[in-house]
Amino acid sequence: MKVLWNDQIVDESEVKIDLEDRGYQFGDGIYEVIRIYDGYMYMEKEHLDRLWVSAEKIRMTLPFTKEALSERLHQLAKEAGLENARVYFQVTRGTAKPRLHDFPDPKEVPPVLMADIQPASRPTAKQTIGIRAGFVEDKRWLHCDIKSISLLGNLLALDEAKQNGYEEAVLVRDNYVTEASASNLWMVKNEVLYTHPDGNLILPGITKIKIREIAKALGIELKEEAFTDKELLAADECFKTSSVAEIMPIIEIDNQKIGDGMPGKVTKKILHAYIEAVN
Ligand code: PDD
Repeated sequence: MKVLWNDQIVDESEVKIDLEDRGYQFGDGIYEVIRIYDGYMYMEKEHLDRLWVSAEKIRMTLPFTKEALSERLHQLAKEAGLENARVYFQVTRGTAKPRLHDFPDPKEVPPVLMADIQPASRPTAKQTIGIRAGFVEDKRWLHCDIKSISLLGNLLALDEAKQNGYEEAVLVRDNYVTEASASNLWMVKNEVLYTHPDGNLILPGITKIKIREIAKALGIELKEEAFTDKELLAADECFKTSSVAEIMPIIEIDNQKIGDGMPGKVTKKILHAYIEAVN
C-alpha cells in the first residue's frame, strides 16, 4: 500500500518512524480524517483549516502550506486509485532525542507527516436500523476541541460502553451530554434539533458544519445548546455525526428507547439530504 510520508509517496514498507517520534512516545500530534466520495475529497478545505487550528492550539508550526498538503493528499488518492475511501493524516512534533518532555526547537526538529488511504463505504445497514449506546462519564481533558492523536480518553469511553454491551458511548460531563466517542451528538425534541455548542468540551465537527446548512435549508430549527442526559432520554430522536459515520441514528441509550426506538423522521430527512449533498 502506498502512503504519504513527509513529502514522499512511498510503499508503506519503506516508512521509517523513529522510536523517539513524539507522536509515538507522547501522543504529541494532531490528525484529520476526510471521506472521499467518487474520487472527491469532501469538505477538504474545512478539514485542512481545522488541522491548522489544531496545530496552532498545540503551538506546532506546520512546515508546509495547505496547498502543498492538499496536493500531496490528492496525489496519494490518485495513486491509491480508490473512489470511495477515507484518508487519514497526522502530524507529530517530530523526533527529538533523547526523550524529553519539553517541546523541541521547531527549527531543529521538523514535524513528521503521514497519510494513508483505506476503502470506505456508507454504513447503510446501521444507518437503517440505528445503533444502541450507553452513557459514559466524560473524563477527557479540557481541550476536546483539538483533534489530538492522544485519544485514550475517547478509547476508554468507547471500551466502557462496549463492555456494558453497547455499540457507542454517549459522553456526559456534569450531567450535560457533550458528544459521542468519535462523533458529535444530536437530539430532536418537538421538531427542534439540539447539539452541544462548540467550545473546549467537544470537537467542532466538519459534518456539523454541513448539518447546520442542511437544517437551515430544510427549515429545521437548530439550537446549539447543551442538554442533559435526562433530557436526551426524553427526546424524540437522537443521532451522531462524523465524516465516517455520516448521520447515524441512535435508537436506545442505557437500554431505554429514544422516541419509538427507531430512526426518527427528522434524522432520516437529514441523512437523506446529507447523502444528496455528498454525491
Ligand atoms: N472522528 N467528535 C469527536 C470526538 C471525533 O473524533 C470526531 C471525528 C467528531 C466528528 O468530526 P467530523 O464531523 O469532522 O468527522 C466529533 C473521526 C472521524 C475519527 O476519529 O476517526
